[in-house]
Amino acid sequence: MNKINFSLVCLFSILGLAACGDSGSDKATGATAESAGGGEMVAFVTTQDGSPMPIKAELFDTPQAKEFMTTGKNPYVGNAEAVEKGKKLFQLYSCTQCHGPDAKGQVGPGLTGPDYRYPKDATNKGMFETIWHGTNGGMGAKGKGLMDPSDPANGLSVDETLKIIAWVRSHGSTTGNE
Ligand code: HEC
Repeated sequence: MNKINFSLVCLFSILGLAACGDSGSDKATGATAESAGGGEMVAFVTTQDGSPMPIKAELFDTPQAKEFMTTGKNPYVGNAEAVEKGKKLFQLYSCTQCHGPDAKGQVGPGLTGPDYRYPKDATNKGMFETIWHGTNGGMGAKGKGLMDPSDPANGLSVDETLKIIAWVRSHGSTTGNE
């Protein structure tokens, strides 16, 4: 009897979107990952001044993006399909025009490392922050909603940004995931 009651409580808890059992569970479930207390977001900071970077949990909307949200590791690095997609996005978003077709540098700096203008760009978390939110020195924010403030749909998704980074890393000397 007690068991049945407990199951019912659990069921209603789930329907009410409250966590059933241990609230520290790390099974992240989509947009509610943060509010459910599971899979906490790593502390993203801007490249401009290191202040907390505002980004909504629901923008991490693929399994790979979710993994990145909670670990800061980019699961697409070394994945041939994602690297190929990243290459196309690098062209589509005009990264090529400033950073060169192989990301070795043109008007903008080379992105292949191991030395970076912003040393944190040697990590995938750091490079993500730079691409998403931009810099003070000529690199515009490319993240969704930031690239063109008049059009919230404009800009890279988190998943696309991770694929671009995977492509950049395929030319570089580091995976960024160490
Ligand atoms: C209009 C030219 C321009 C475009 C387009 C552009 N960038 Fe940049 N990018 C720059 C400049 C200039 C810098 C150097 C910024 C600074 O010193 O603050 C930079 C810096 C960077 C850095 C930091 C490099 C380091 O050494 O730390 C990364 C990463 C980067 N860009 C990635 C990208 C990606 C990915 C795209 C496409 C989505 C892109 N950029 C599009 C001009 C551009």
